[in-house]
Amino acid sequence: MAFEPIYKPGLFKDKVAIVTGGGTGIGCAIAEELAYGGAKVAIASRKMNRLIPAAKGLSRDHNAEVEPFTCNIREREDCDKLVDDVIAKWGQVDILVNNGGGQFPAPASAIRDKGWKAVIDTNLNGTWNMTQAVAQKSMLRRGGRIVSIVADMWRGFPTMVHTGAARAGVVNMSMSLAVEWASSNILINCVAPGTILSTGMNNYPPGTVDAAWQAIPLKRLGTSEQIAQVVAMLLSPAGDFITGETIKVDGGGSLWGDRWPIGNPSKPPEITIPPWPEERWPEFAVTDEEES
Ligand code: ADE
Repeated sequence: MAFEPIYKPGLFKDKVAIVTGGGTGIGCAIAEELAYGGAKVAIASRKMNRLIPAAKGLSRDHNAEVEPFTCNIREREDCDKLVDDVIAKWGQVDILVNNGGGQFPAPASAIRDKGWKAVIDTNLNGTWNMTQAVAQKSMLRRGGRIVSIVADMWRGFPTMVHTGAARAGVVNMSMSLAVEWASSNILINCVAPGTILSTGMNNYPPGTVDAAWQAIPLKRLGTSEQIAQVVAMLLSPAGDFITGETIKVDGGGSLWGDRWPIGNPSKPPEITIPPWPEERWPEFAVTDEEES
C-alpha cells in the first residue's frame, strides 16, 4: 500500500530511532513514519536480507537516512552492540520501538520447553534487553521515548499462551519503568494491535483471518499503517504527557467476540503433540548449539 502521510514533515527531525523487526510488516511501516518525519532510523533484525531492501526503499522514498543492522534481540551482547553502533554513527538514541517478536499457535498442552522459552526469550527478554540497553547508553542521560508492540491478550491468549504471558510482562514492565525513569524524561508506552493484515499472518493456520474478522465489531482487519500512525502519535509532541499506557488498536476486538470456542467440556480433549514446526516457524527453531 502506498504511504499516505498524515503527520507534518520534519516531525522527527534530529531524532535517532531504532526499530527492531523493522524490515517487514508493522515494523517497516513504523520505520517509514519515522523516516518520513526526518528521523535517522536504524532498522534491526536477525536477517540482513530482509533489512537491506527495506532500508534502501525507505531511504530513497523519503530522502532519509535508514540503515540496516543485524541483531538477535534474545542476545544481550547483540543489543548492546546495536546501541553502541547507532551511537557511534549518529551520537544518541532518542526513540526505541520494540517491534521484533513472534510466536506460533499451539495448544498449551503441546508446547515444548524449547518453544516456550524461545517465545518468552524473544518477546519479553528481547524487549527488556533493548530497553535497558538504550536507557543505560543514552536515554537515562538525555531522555527518550520507547514504544513496545504487544498483542491483544486482555482475555488471556488461548492457543498462544506463551506470547500472552510475554506480552503481559512487557505491559507491566513498561508501567514500572514509566515511573522509575520518569525523572530522566523517558516516556514508555505500548501499542496492542488486534488482528492486522500483515506478513505476520502468513504464520497462522488457514481460517485465522476469517475467525478474527468474525470477532471484530468493526468488521474489518487492521493495517500496519494504522499501527504505525498510533506509534508515531506517541513519539510525537502529542504524546508528551503519556507514559506507562497501553493503547489498543483492535477495532474493538478485545471487547467482544468468540475467537476460541472452548469445545465440549464434558469430554477430555484429544491432544496430539505436533512435531516441532520448523518449516512453518523457522524464527523459533532453537538448535542444539543455541541451547548449550
Ligand atoms: N524478530 C523476531 N525474532 C527476532 C529476534 N530474535 N531478534 C530480532 N528481531 C526479531
